[in-house]
Amino acid sequence: MTPKQTYILGIESSCDDTAAAVIKNGRILSNVVATQNIHKEYGGVVPELASRAHQQNIVPVVQLALQRANIDKKQLNAIAFTRGPGLMGSLLVGTSFSKSLAMGLDLPLIEVNHMQAHILAHFIKSKEQSIPSFPFLAMTISGGHTQIVKVTNYFEMEVIGQTLDDAIGEAFDKSAKLLGLPYPGGPLIDQNARLGNPKAFHFPKPKVGPLDFSFSGLKTAVLYFIEKKSKDHPNFVKENLNDICASLQFTIVDYLMDKIKNAVKETHIKTIAIGGGVSANSGIRKALQDTETSLGWKVHIPKFEYCTDNAAMIAIVGELKYQQQLFASNDVVAKPRMKY
Ligand code: KG4
Ligand code: ZN
Repeated sequence: MTPKQTYILGIESSCDDTAAAVIKNGRILSNVVATQNIHKEYGGVVPELASRAHQQNIVPVVQLALQRANIDKKQLNAIAFTRGPGLMGSLLVGTSFSKSLAMGLDLPLIEVNHMQAHILAHFIKSKEQSIPSFPFLAMTISGGHTQIVKVTNYFEMEVIGQTLDDAIGEAFDKSAKLLGLPYPGGPLIDQNARLGNPKAFHFPKPKVGPLDFSFSGLKTAVLYFIEKKSKDHPNFVKENLNDICASLQFTIVDYLMDKIKNAVKETHIKTIAIGGGVSANSGIRKALQDTETSLGWKVHIPKFEYCTDNAAMIAIVGELKYQQQLFASNDVVAKPRMKY
């Protein structure tokens, strides 16, 4: 007997990306993201502008997702949406739109935790990624979060380590800003780092608990470093940009690897899955992939478009919850500070 076909629409609007995706039996049929470029001018996400842009984008983005999936909205089986965590104004747009659409189409509504979704994106069926087996350690590394999560089952997750201040993506972006690079600077640090010497300069690794992170000190260290070096040599940053980026990236990657090694030691789990925008970083990817031969770990890195904020990850959680009939009530509200 062929399994029943289910079409789930996923909607994501937690920060500055308006996204919609359609999933059918584990495979993504469409994955549309409207990135809000307006924030570049401000060097970071402006919440008020983000919610306005979501309002403008949400209908065309959903329409395009349905069109690319080549289905009519009447064929959908459920609507899954990001309930939190995220910016209140941004979440409100996706939540209200999803509730109205579900009511209009008389469909079940499924609430999704954005952070769980980053982890469960690994369960999307695609030839470009492999599905981890339970239990595994997930590292969610993005502009908003830095966490090590012990994943025992789809919805059994425990945060065992996290940042005490800035997220890892902020460490990249804020350092990049000090170096005169535009927002978001993470990918640019990565690009320049490939051409530089990672041992050229030394940056300190902040000391906190074995599984926790702290990045605010690094930003200050970069600021003092630039001020000191530029005093007698005004073109210092320009002339040494590649080496600075390489050294900075080396420090961040090394710090991340220390923490994940501590987590493996503590849990005896050697299956690692990463997610979040910073998993695009080439230094992190290489360091993790190298552990497959050096330490016998099994490493899972999702397809790039499922790493950054997207709705495909919301749709896969929608499908997993649909199978268990885990539906939201119609008085569900957005939750900016949502826990696992
Ligand atoms: O997951 P994401 O798209 O959005 C959230 O923050 O939720 O992550 C965006 C973050 C930004 O801080 C960006 O600079 C960082 O991911 N990022 C990178 C790279 N690509 C994206 N950081 C370092 N290296 C990269 N290649
Ligand atoms: Zn995210």
